[in-house]
Amino acid sequence: MHIFRVLLILSFFMIHTNVQSQVQPDAKSTNENLYRPRFHFTPQQGWMNDPNGMIFLNGQYHLFFQHYPDGTVWGPMHWGHATSSDLVHWKEQPIALYPDSIGMIFSGSAVLDKNNTSGLGRGGIAPLVAIYTQHNMPGEKSGRNDFQNQSIAYSLDEGKTWTKYAENPVLKTPNLKDFRDPKVIWYEPTKKWIMSLAVANHVEFYSSPNLINWNKESEIGKNLFAHGGVWECPDLLSFKVNGQTVWVLLVSMNPGGPNSGSATQYIVGDFDGHTFKPYTTDIKWMDYGPDNYAGVTFSNVGDRNILIGWMSNWNYANVVPTEKWRSAMTVPRELSLVKQASNSNQFLLVSTPVKELKNAFVQIVSKENVIPNRIDIKDIKATHFEIILSNTYNEKLIIGYHADKKKFYIDRTNAGVSNFNPGFAAVAVAPRLSFTMNMDLSILLDKTSIELFADGGRTVMTALFFPTFPYTKWEIKSKEKIPSSFMKLYSFK
Ligand code: FRU
Repeated sequence: MHIFRVLLILSFFMIHTNVQSQVQPDAKSTNENLYRPRFHFTPQQGWMNDPNGMIFLNGQYHLFFQHYPDGTVWGPMHWGHATSSDLVHWKEQPIALYPDSIGMIFSGSAVLDKNNTSGLGRGGIAPLVAIYTQHNMPGEKSGRNDFQNQSIAYSLDEGKTWTKYAENPVLKTPNLKDFRDPKVIWYEPTKKWIMSLAVANHVEFYSSPNLINWNKESEIGKNLFAHGGVWECPDLLSFKVNGQTVWVLLVSMNPGGPNSGSATQYIVGDFDGHTFKPYTTDIKWMDYGPDNYAGVTFSNVGDRNILIGWMSNWNYANVVPTEKWRSAMTVPRELSLVKQASNSNQFLLVSTPVKELKNAFVQIVSKENVIPNRIDIKDIKATHFEIILSNTYNEKLIIGYHADKKKFYIDRTNAGVSNFNPGFAAVAVAPRLSFTMNMDLSILLDKTSIELFADGGRTVMTALFFPTFPYTKWEIKSKEKIPSSFMKLYSFK
């Protein structure tokens, strides 16, 4: 009996290793094929985190990003650079900003100084001005508190080459350790630049006539909103809602997110060029998934608010199983604000993939063994459903909705490789934030990521997964039958 059992176990392992050795060479030689996304930006090689300095200029979208080109873990930060004419296809460009004697180049933003308020323009060319944090490592290591300061650099050739301002830094820390991630906008009523800055447990607003001299206006958040971790990467945006101007302050926070680790909260209120007055003090999350962090919006895109987030989480960003590069960005998302009831001050931030992405997908017919890159389901009853992706290793990614709990979930407990982090193999949940009978879903699926936009983008979840072998099968399980005309499937072109 005993021997039989041992034999059985041995034969199981043999079969198992056999299966492995059949597929392993393929999978092994193609970490790139297996994990490099098809329609999400990744650096050719090396480490990437936050999106920085995103701006639209003369037909090109510019994406700068936190980058360590010489390694696949976080290291001395540079600003990498990529451009796109359609928000879908990105071309990596030479590195924009290198660390210098003041420090590494941390997160920040870029603006087009149309009126040359900074005086950095030449020969009628409006300068593109980058505003970023410089982090001085020796300063931090020696136990000082003044190692994060804000500097600027300018470009007169659309971001190709940059000149650092000779008198950097332009905004020095008042001896506070966490003093970073400047996001700058032009505020027309007072004709001033407004900088939102993350300062440990709150956001500070500074104003400037010229991007060089900065004055503190106010601060918000010390004892309000979520505080499970340090506040980072703020962004101040405005929306027109039925003729009313409403402001939103995005703030990323790590750790303390709703599904562990990094996440982005938002605050809705009024901003008058000096102070931000929140309408409510409840905690709101822009994206409930574990993998959308440090998201900020493009400058110079008119009334649109287009956000890109870093598709990872500080819990495990440094150890995910990609070899040549680490981290991808989310797809660009259009943000809008909706009022929850006509007489209330409750607003909901809604995200959807930008309309430019529509043309990037082609409709396909439903086949169990062809994994779509986009699934749109319209007007289905809000009952229990699951979409299951799987492979021959029995690894499964499950995206579902639990009607009794009114919760969406992404279950990656058995989705693939997860031994790099003890918390990775988990179920992320998100509340349904719409109360209509029926719902619609739009799901973007790339090789290692899922982005769920439910109820027109009212509930959003972004999550990574790393199957050992590509998923080759998918199915949808639902209490109510979904008429095929209600579901559209697409492949990335
Ligand atoms: C957010 C962050 C920022 C900082 C940057 C450093 O992910 O921690 O606060 O500027 O990353 O790379």
